[in-house]
Amino acid sequence: MKKDLFGKALLDYQNDNYTEDLITSTNISDEDELPLPYLFRDFKEMPKLEQKALKLSKGKTLDVGCGSGSHSLYLQEKEFEVKAIDISKGAIEVAKKRGVLNTEVLDILDETETFDTILLLMNGSGIFQELSQIATYLKHLKSLLNPKGQILIDSSDIKYMYQDEDGGLWIDTNANYYGELDYYLSYKKDHEEPMKWLYLDFDTLKLACESVGLQCEKVMDGKHFDYLAKLY
Ligand SMILES: C[S@@+](CC[C@H](N)C(=O)[O-])C[C@H]1O[C@@H](n2cnc3c(N)ncnc32)[C@H](O)[C@@H]1O
Repeated sequence: MKKDLFGKALLDYQNDNYTEDLITSTNISDEDELPLPYLFRDFKEMPKLEQKALKLSKGKTLDVGCGSGSHSLYLQEKEFEVKAIDISKGAIEVAKKRGVLNTEVLDILDETETFDTILLLMNGSGIFQELSQIATYLKHLKSLLNPKGQILIDSSDIKYMYQDEDGGLWIDTNANYYGELDYYLSYKKDHEEPMKWLYLDFDTLKLACESVGLQCEKVMDGKHFDYLAKLY
C-alpha cells in the first residue's frame, strides 16, 4: 500500500469530499466498484458474519486491519476494551477522527500485546497474502492470544470465480493455490502498487491451523461461499 490510496479514499469520505468510489480488480476478475460508504457501515448494515463475530467478541479485543474502525466503534460503544490497528496511515487517521480511542499504525506481525479476541474481518485471510505465509501469520496470532482467547476470521471459497458459463472449472492445477490473487486498487485515476490478497476455503484454513496447533471451527456460512471461523 505504498501510495495509501485506500487511506486517501477513507479520508476523503470522512472529510466530506466523497466524489468517487475505489475501483478494484484481480488477475481473474474485471473492475468492480468498492463503495466508500460500505467502509463506514454501522452494525445493521454489516453482513451477518460480521454481526456474529461482534456478538461473539469477549474481553480485550484487537481489530486487525481495522480500516475506518467500524467494528471497533461498535465494540467501544458496548464498553469493550478495543485496540484497532492498520498499516494504512490514512485509515488510522480516520479511525481516530471517528472516535476510536486506542488505535495505531501497526502491522499485525509487529503487534506484541495479548488479547482475548482477535478480529480479522472483510476477508480477514487477505492479510496473509499467500498460502506460503499463513503459518507465519497464524503462529504470530496464536502468540497474541490470552488463555481461552479466540481469533474470529472471515474468508471465502472463491472456486466459483473460476467457473465458466457451462459450469466447468478452469482452475490450473499446476498453478498456485486458487485463492491466491493479485489485487489491484485504483482511486481517482491513480493506481496502487499491486498487492497479494488471499482467499481461503475452510478446509485449507483448518489444515493450516492444525499445522500450528490451533483448533479451527466454522461458526457460520455466509450468503455467497463465505464463512466465519473461530480459531483457538
Ligand atoms: C479489506 S480492508 C478491511 C477494513 C475493515 N476491517 C472493514 O471491514 O471495513 C483490509 C485492511 O487491512 C489492512 N491491512 C493489510 N495488511 C495488514 C497488516 N499486515 N497488518 C495490519 N493491517 C493490514 C489494510 O490496510 C486494510 O485497511
